Amino acid sequence: MLVANGVTIRFGKRVLFEDVNIRFGKGNCYGIIGANGAGKSTFLKVLSGELEPSKGEVTIEKGERISVLKQDHFAYEEEKVIDTVIMGNQELYKIMKEKEAIYAKPDFNEEDGMKAAKLEERFAELDGWNAESDAAVLLNDLGIDSELHYKYMKELEARQKVKVLLAQSLFGNPDVLLLDEPTNDLDLKSINWLQEFLINFENTVIVVSHDRYFLNKVCTHTADVDFGKITVYPGNYDFWYESSQLALKQAKESNKKKEEKIKELQEFIARFSANASKSKQATSRKKSLEKIELEEIKPSNRRYPYVDFKPDREPGKEILQVKNISKTIEGEKILDNVSFTVKQGDKIAFLADNENAKTVLFQIIAGEMAPDFRRINMGNNNN
Ligand SMILES: Nc1ncnc2c1ncn2[C@@H]1O[C@H](COP(=O)(O)OP(=O)(O)OP(=O)(O)O)[C@@H](O)[C@H]1O
Ligand SMILES: [Mg+2]
Repeated sequence: MLVANGVTIRFGKRVLFEDVNIRFGKGNCYGIIGANGAGKSTFLKVLSGELEPSKGEVTIEKGERISVLKQDHFAYEEEKVIDTVIMGNQELYKIMKEKEAIYAKPDFNEEDGMKAAKLEERFAELDGWNAESDAAVLLNDLGIDSELHYKYMKELEARQKVKVLLAQSLFGNPDVLLLDEPTNDLDLKSINWLQEFLINFENTVIVVSHDRYFLNKVCTHTADVDFGKITVYPGNYDFWYESSQLALKQAKESNKKKEEKIKELQEFIARFSANASKSKQATSRKKSLEKIELEEIKPSNRRYPYVDFKPDREPGKEILQVKNISKTIEGEKILDNVSFTVKQGDKIAFLADNENAKTVLFQIIAGEMAPDFRRINMGNNNN
């Protein structure tokens, strides 16, 4: 169990959040949400111990291990892929290295033997014998094929490194798993796989994400960073959204009623304060007036982003027609007979196993690259 106790983070005069008290329970997955710059990543850093809070403390149950998705994609350039994954469990990795060093000693003595026996014991406790195969399974599941496992990190492409670091964080069944934007730079297949992994994960997950679909799939709880506070709600993102909207609506309605009452009381007081026969009632209404407290509705920092396109001219019904596009680059067929029509109002997601395919298709549509045979019709406003 991970506990944040009275945690406050201040940068200079700016308070990101104050007096945060949360117990992160086993088996739960907490989605941390909030506006850009609200302090989500900073909070994860405090939970992982990377950053000292200005006030308060974070404690983890004795013997429990926290694992963090590393953000620096170049931190392991000189390491082998499989080792990078196993490094997710620092203690296990250290024991493996110590064991190797002892057994490689030419003058292996009795003392070394005893030390080795101790290391072997802990190694077995940590399921060390399965470490390599466990790491390989994670990598394969994420689409990093076996022939890459013993390569160096520096030999991998950026997208592959992201997956290795994800495998590293998931390796060895950590007690608490901290993930900051894990779906960034992941392909759809890997995102789906990660969702299943997290749904089946039995320990604690704390994840920051802007991906509402992902949060809805995996989260049991939602922690909202806003108004300088962090508030935990049971339920996934949609549940949080609906209930927070409802709470806001209720607060507004209740304030509206109170405001009407205030107005009514004020009018009475104004009319009858000077009236001797009614002055007693006016005084009692003054007291009632003082008792009414409006609920404070602070503006949220949250801004829902949207894209507002202003077309130069009114588009027709058919925006774009792509017919039988093929493209071969350096002997590799990237696009094979692609045809589709884009109609007004369509919202289309382009998915491809080959990352190049999408870029090439968009370049062809934009006229930046020629297809093997050209046939694209841009829509007009006559149809
Ligand atoms: N070491 C630091 N010193 C001063 N200010 C900092 C420091 N680290 C972060 N901040 C500021 O704290 C705020 C919160 O940053 P943080 O990265 O935690 O936000 P976030 O919620 O993760 O945002 P995003 O959604 O963009 O990732 C930002 O305004 C940031 O500039
Ligand atoms: Mg962040």
